[in-house]
Amino acid sequence: MNELINLADIERAALAQLPAGPRDYYAGGAADELTLRANRAAWDQWSIHYRVMRDVAKRDHRAQVLGTALDWPLMIAPTAYHQMAHPDGEVATARAAADCGTALVLSTLSNYPMEQVAKAATRGWWFQLYVYKDRGITRDLVSRAIAAGCGAIAVTVDAPVGARRERDVRNQFAFPVELPMSNLLPAGERYSKPDLAQGGFMGYVNEMLDPSLNWRDLDWLCATSTVPVLVKGVVRGDDALTAVEHGARGIIVSNHGGRQLDSAPATAVVLPEIATLVGDRAAVLVDGGIRRGTDLLKALALGANAALIGRPALWGLTVGGQAGVRHVLNLLRAEFDIAMALAGCESVAAITEDLVRPD
Ligand SMILES: Cc1cc2nc3c(=O)[nH]c(=O)nc-3n(C[C@H](O)[C@H](O)[C@H](O)COP(=O)(O)O)c2cc1C
Repeated sequence: MNELINLADIERAALAQLPAGPRDYYAGGAADELTLRANRAAWDQWSIHYRVMRDVAKRDHRAQVLGTALDWPLMIAPTAYHQMAHPDGEVATARAAADCGTALVLSTLSNYPMEQVAKAATRGWWFQLYVYKDRGITRDLVSRAIAAGCGAIAVTVDAPVGARRERDVRNQFAFPVELPMSNLLPAGERYSKPDLAQGGFMGYVNEMLDPSLNWRDLDWLCATSTVPVLVKGVVRGDDALTAVEHGARGIIVSNHGGRQLDSAPATAVVLPEIATLVGDRAAVLVDGGIRRGTDLLKALALGANAALIGRPALWGLTVGGQAGVRHVLNLLRAEFDIAMALAGCESVAAITEDLVRPD
């Protein structure tokens, strides 16, 4: 794997290895993939106005987000179906995250059950919640995740209905039936093994998830949960503020990696406004298109407490299981370290907003 020297190399290698269905499911976005491309491009629009002569001989990358201690401020975003990339699936991802001093957010739609992933995630894990029409199932997921030791619950709010991902439509993509959604197994086959007849992922979302999701549901979740609740999938300052008013302790600025509303703004564009409005009332995290250590530095300078990567972890998993995800994280961490030093930052707290400008 040493010949893969950056995340783009790993992505190319993974794309060449995966069959068309899983490859396009992982890589693709909604409709014309405008937002998918915009996410990546928007980080490039910011320049880093580095400081000099700051004594960066020692650099402290540590961060603390909602009680979860991270060696450096990058987490793994929730993505479904890691076993399409590697048989060790989410367990390998969780182990790699722990090896690299960070935590993962586990998808509701993981192939391994959360209890098993929890054991592997020795540096912490959060649970990503999809709200099912069947609130009994939703409640069970929440109580299981808390019982298994999750540090927080991130409720995804940008998928009231499934988007049309045209690559999946063309491929007639459906999740392989031999790979169950293990967290949903207790709810039965219909919930845990979606098939082609249901119209792939879009069909599953439309049949199972609750499009009536609204702020009262957040009230309920925040009242029920004994761990902090984050709202994932926000791109507007007013929504972020409303979420905080309804009890959210964190906001994940995200457009689902360009997989939901095509033409949603790039996260690097909306992050500064949201971070400014929220201030220190809640943690602010961001994902979408982060592929370089400099992207992570920009995210922190624009007000995020931490950032997350989605697809790169899947590419690492594809090329090398646990070692592959570790390779992705190590490359990013080394790039981030160099970026901090060259920008004149000896600690994460020194990554301030004056460092970036939209040149
Ligand atoms: C293949 C795939 C599956 C995903 N599954 C979920 C999911 O189950 N729940 C969720 O909240 N977000 C999901 N996401 C969105 C990610 O959590 C994240 O927002 C996005 O991938 C970040 O963008 P990036 O891939 O450019 O880093 C998924 C994304 C991908 C690429």
